[in-house]
Amino acid sequence: MRQQIAAANWKMNLTYDNAEQLLDKLLEKSYTLNANRKVVMAVPFPYLTLAVNKVKGREGIFIAAQNCYTKKNGAYTGETSVEMLQSIGVEYIVIGHSERREYFNESNAFLAEKVNIILENNITPIFCCGESLTIREAGTQNEFVDNQLKESLFHLSAEQITKVVIAYEPIWAIGTGKTATSQQAQDIHQHIRSTFAAKYGHDVAQEITILYGGSVKGNNAAELFGMQDVDGGLVGGASLNADEFATIINALK
Ligand code: PGA
Repeated sequence: MRQQIAAANWKMNLTYDNAEQLLDKLLEKSYTLNANRKVVMAVPFPYLTLAVNKVKGREGIFIAAQNCYTKKNGAYTGETSVEMLQSIGVEYIVIGHSERREYFNESNAFLAEKVNIILENNITPIFCCGESLTIREAGTQNEFVDNQLKESLFHLSAEQITKVVIAYEPIWAIGTGKTATSQQAQDIHQHIRSTFAAKYGHDVAQEITILYGGSVKGNNAAELFGMQDVDGGLVGGASLNADEFATIINALK
């Protein structure tokens, strides 16, 4: 059975005290989580240890980093290695977010290197993909996303690919309040799954978790997550509010 995940992406927000309050508020709430229904919280680097310690012993709640570097260690001032993240208890790493692709020029080839080092360290990559408004308006979103998947992931084995979580996030829906309709999300998620099926076979494709991201809120999560190929969400703005994110978690299939 493939996993359903409510993933929070705090981005570059909150002070230490605010972060602690938000974690405490969120952890006070009750959810039905298990091996196939999970919460992952991608918090800023300075709060990773705090967050890992807070969720210790809580079933189904995990902490993610929002980035990592491609090298094992060495003279790379300011960067963070996967080994470091692994050593403090981080279990997921978000990579290829459209903000990193845009502001830090991260390419598909560079992301392929990140995927490799993350998997080598037994951490789960949450690989983001998605098209701009121009591409959506030209109607070439499927080809665009296929290319992102091919150039960053298709070198992986079938066993490795099932360890990757995909987050499809149309750039035009991120932070804009303009969500893709549930049918638009389902259409492209189904397409992404068929792309994996063509490469790895139907059974492998059925195991891959594909999250939707882009203005997921408490009031649209249930409809989006209700679609057959939408296995949860990667949530930015709404994850900074404990009540709203709790509603989103409870909307998981
Ligand atoms: P948003 O961000 O929910 O604020 O649109 C989603 C994301 O960028 O992951």
